[in-house]
Amino acid sequence: MHDYIIKNGTVVTETGVCRTDIAVKGEKIAALGESEFLGEAREVIDASGKIVVPGLIDPHVHIAAPFMGCIGPLDFYSASKAAALGGVTSIIDFTNTQPGDSVLQKIEHRKEEMANAAIDYGIHAKIVEATDAIIGEIKGMVEAGCPTLKLFTTYRKAGVMIPDEDIVRVMLEAKKWGARPGVHAEDNTLSEYNDDLFAAQGKTDWNYHYLSKPPIVEGLATAKIIDYAKFAGCELYIFHVTCTESIDAIKRAQKEGYPIIGETCIHYLELTKEALDDADTGFRYICSPPLRDKKDNAALWDALSEGTLSLVSSDNCLYDDKEKTSFLEKDARGNVIRDYKKIANGVSGMEERLPLLMTDGVGAGKISLEQLVEISSTNPAKIFGMYPKKGVIQPGSDADIVLIDPDAKMTLSAKTLHYGIDSSVYEGKEVKGMPVMTMRRGEVIAKDGEFFGKPGTGQFLHRTLG
Ligand code: URP
Ligand code: ZN
Ligand code: ZN
Repeated sequence: MHDYIIKNGTVVTETGVCRTDIAVKGEKIAALGESEFLGEAREVIDASGKIVVPGLIDPHVHIAAPFMGCIGPLDFYSASKAAALGGVTSIIDFTNTQPGDSVLQKIEHRKEEMANAAIDYGIHAKIVEATDAIIGEIKGMVEAGCPTLKLFTTYRKAGVMIPDEDIVRVMLEAKKWGARPGVHAEDNTLSEYNDDLFAAQGKTDWNYHYLSKPPIVEGLATAKIIDYAKFAGCELYIFHVTCTESIDAIKRAQKEGYPIIGETCIHYLELTKEALDDADTGFRYICSPPLRDKKDNAALWDALSEGTLSLVSSDNCLYDDKEKTSFLEKDARGNVIRDYKKIANGVSGMEERLPLLMTDGVGAGKISLEQLVEISSTNPAKIFGMYPKKGVIQPGSDADIVLIDPDAKMTLSAKTLHYGIDSSVYEGKEVKGMPVMTMRRGEVIAKDGEFFGKPGTGQFLHRTLG
């Protein structure tokens, strides 16, 4: 006896679209085929008219992560709700490492913080310095199932930037143990130069954030980090690619045969920097790298479609307006002084990613349904060492299954999303193509806009790179 049979749906994998029914037993997909040959089930889910995809994986989120003096409103349970209602069944977050910390201890600490999740969760090991002790821990990070290392080339003042010479040391050690560095690539020297220049000129409004970090800031760091990886002979993952400068550097290295993997995020496909020009709401859009322009949006869609970029994450790192603006000061007359440097960087995206990819990707003909599955589920599973447990609908894989109603519409808004905050960077955006059921390891955790996940039912994803 199966637990579920999902019948009459259009099942999508990275390789094709087919009509098949799915039998689920316990936490696994038991069989595919015509339901009349699959046997009995406790419950039959009619997926007529629905698109059936493997549960989405979001390999770049920041939940309850102290950053620039803020922490955000979510814990791993409330984050699970927003994620599951966006079709996400697995996330990967980061250790909150600061100089002097043992990363291995931080992994254990982060696991405790994540233990109330209702979706599955992995951890990237954030490294902020290459002391002998930390270099000596890299083998242990791999053994702990956290073989993906996060390095920042910027945010010096937030205490997470790692010096160039340390990056090379980490890369050489990562290569030895089968770990892979992943880098937030922005040149700190140029952006801090601009910060100081603009501050001296009294230019602190929101839009100076993107002016302080023009594409050259990202392109320069991306090209340099790729050269370091070539030197060290290691694989490299580049987080949140936003512009042609970086795409070109990645494409060049890939053509030369180097294993360079590029990610972009949903907001870099959807939003543009003009959002920061609004004095009242522009601060909401401050994230790093900054939003770019329409030409870059288009280049990113093209890079995904042709495979230069492998996946779309959310980089979900959200704050409500009050927290995001909490470090702003007032002038003598009591007016708030707008200063982009005092705004915690980050926007939402976990819940919006699927409907936006359906609407502006598949719906607009920029990507196929197969590519949607590839960039949001199968590639993250393969790249981060979770495939074929995750990222595919096939017998033996986890029963992480999402039903999408291609005709369901919604207006994205703080009121319709489930982050529990007072604003949304997508306020008023109409989307078509909504997840209507999310099953995580054989358990229906979201259906028709309601969340049923229980705290603590998510599992730690012990990952090994191939
Ligand atoms: O603005 C962003 N991206 N905030 C989150 C931290 C990071 O840089 O990924
Ligand atoms: Zn980043
Ligand atoms: Zn991030």
